[in-house]
Amino acid sequence: MCGIVGYVGPRPVTDVLVPGLAHLEYRGYDSAGVALNTGTSFDLIKTAGRIADLEALVDAEDHSNALSGIGHTRWATHGAPNTVNAHPHTDEAGDVVVVHNGIIENWADLKKKLVESGHEFISDTDTEVVAHMVADRADMTLRDAVTDIMNQAEGALALAVMRKSEPDLIIGARRGSPLVVGRGDGENFLASDIPAFLEHTREMVIIEDDRVVEVRPESVRLFDLEGNELEPEHRKIDWDFEAAEKGGYPTFMLKEIHEQPHAIADTLAGRLSETGRVVLNDLDLDPVLLRSIDKVFVIACGTSYHAAMMAKYAIERWTRLPVEIDIASEFRYRDPVLDDRSLVIGISQSGETIDTLAAVRYAKAQGAKLIGVSNVIDSALARESHAVLYTRAGLEIGVAATKTFTTQLVAMQLLGLYLAQVRGTLDPGAIELLVRELEQLPEQVATALESSAAIEELTRGWADVRDYFFLGRSGDFPVAMEGALKLKEIAYVRAEGYAAGEMKHGPIALIEEGVVVVGVATDTHVQAKTLSNMEEMKARGGTIVLVAEEDDDVGEVADHVIRVPSASDLICTVTAVIPLQLLSYHVATARGLDVDKPRNLAKTVTVE
Ligand code: F6R
Repeated sequence: MCGIVGYVGPRPVTDVLVPGLAHLEYRGYDSAGVALNTGTSFDLIKTAGRIADLEALVDAEDHSNALSGIGHTRWATHGAPNTVNAHPHTDEAGDVVVVHNGIIENWADLKKKLVESGHEFISDTDTEVVAHMVADRADMTLRDAVTDIMNQAEGALALAVMRKSEPDLIIGARRGSPLVVGRGDGENFLASDIPAFLEHTREMVIIEDDRVVEVRPESVRLFDLEGNELEPEHRKIDWDFEAAEKGGYPTFMLKEIHEQPHAIADTLAGRLSETGRVVLNDLDLDPVLLRSIDKVFVIACGTSYHAAMMAKYAIERWTRLPVEIDIASEFRYRDPVLDDRSLVIGISQSGETIDTLAAVRYAKAQGAKLIGVSNVIDSALARESHAVLYTRAGLEIGVAATKTFTTQLVAMQLLGLYLAQVRGTLDPGAIELLVRELEQLPEQVATALESSAAIEELTRGWADVRDYFFLGRSGDFPVAMEGALKLKEIAYVRAEGYAAGEMKHGPIALIEEGVVVVGVATDTHVQAKTLSNMEEMKARGGTIVLVAEEDDDVGEVADHVIRVPSASDLICTVTAVIPLQLLSYHVATARGLDVDKPRNLAKTVTVE
């Protein structure tokens, strides 16, 4: 995530940048900063904390001599959320400033070369490499310098860059991460998202991927990465403010559901090698220690617990280590057997859930090694853990977890494969095949999202259905559990997640006419059995919906089949859950409910 704002024009610069950042605060708010260009120097004002903290610092001084500037609100990916790591970043001489959104995957290589050539870095961010690289290209135009850097930088990123000697010019560049230009009269704006400039203009210019844009007060010129000039595409914005913050989606939840391809790509970025290996350089744990582990515990709550369920299958299958999973609030009270050869993995998107924190602290006190999986840099879980694996879903505002869940699944698949690699329990060819499948996931999730309209149509008549079952076996079981939880929490209907084979031991008594039964049948080695179980539900009057892979023959049992792209059994959990998120969303909205703020819930639960 992160939010970028830039302004060139006659207004007082801070009057544009600071409110613009406040409108982008939903993109991240752990630190913020602005660089104000006076033509002879940059005033650099940065702070850890919220935009309100930045505003207080900006207001404390007179900035009427500023001619232009760029600003940033951060959601940390590389480096702790402190003032030094806050953007904008600059070179040693203070000639260049840069703000950045996204991840520069090859930043470590780029930094190594810069350090060897004498550059000194002061932050832990990937962004700072850009400032030094622009400084090294003083003989080029700023546009050429940024184009050259875009051609060398790998990953999804958006940049805004200025030189102090050219206060009437901001260069923006985009690949994967959003960036738009707002067009004014004798002034122009650059931003990650429209709300940043919506109070000043409703004219915008779309910037596609792999484009560089030259923004001056009187002109906006667009170029590709070969330097060819392109015709900018203009649009008029007719959204109101609230709609703009949601990127045109009616709710944050739907926006976040659609952000999943990007969130997954970010979570995978830099962690899969060209040779088909998993590279977890950020997981700072000695491989010797990982080889000494004889038991794994995965601990989490709610949706994160469903990621733990998938992790059990993945880690056991790929490493042959025994894995126990626990609902965090239960863990301490069953007197688990732990010692210094136990590896405990705590999963919490917020990293602040008190049940999970209490459980992992307990495990640590017994001598276990602790890996935290969190979406929030420097969260309490991250600080508590011996090593951290971050998901990179960006800020999730909707209370129901969506993109943080699918990125947790991906993180656990990465971790499972990494453990298998370190311990030598899967041969390199098998790992490579799974790595190639992980690479496909962002695109496959985008394909799965295409079923949204069909699911909306399917659920149109379901506003009054009160009973749902979600069934699956093996890897499809956690997906079914998550589908049921999503529906319960946002649509307020009874929804049971069950192991498909367990229904006949009791719950099948509840199946009758009018009950909707959603079967997840993507796991090929148990698919036939799941389909038989669905026949049993159908025979008792259930309406059968089936989630199946695109090429699978699933017979005639289902009243409706929702297809997702084919993938290996556990990898497929990531795409299989997408239709269930959409199903719960459309049922809840058909019932007229506020999906972003479901009743009785909180995004972060800090009570036991
Ligand atoms: C469900 C949901 C909750 C959380 C649970 C754990 O949509 O959001 O069930 O998954 O409260 O939260 P974290 O992952 O922050 O520990």
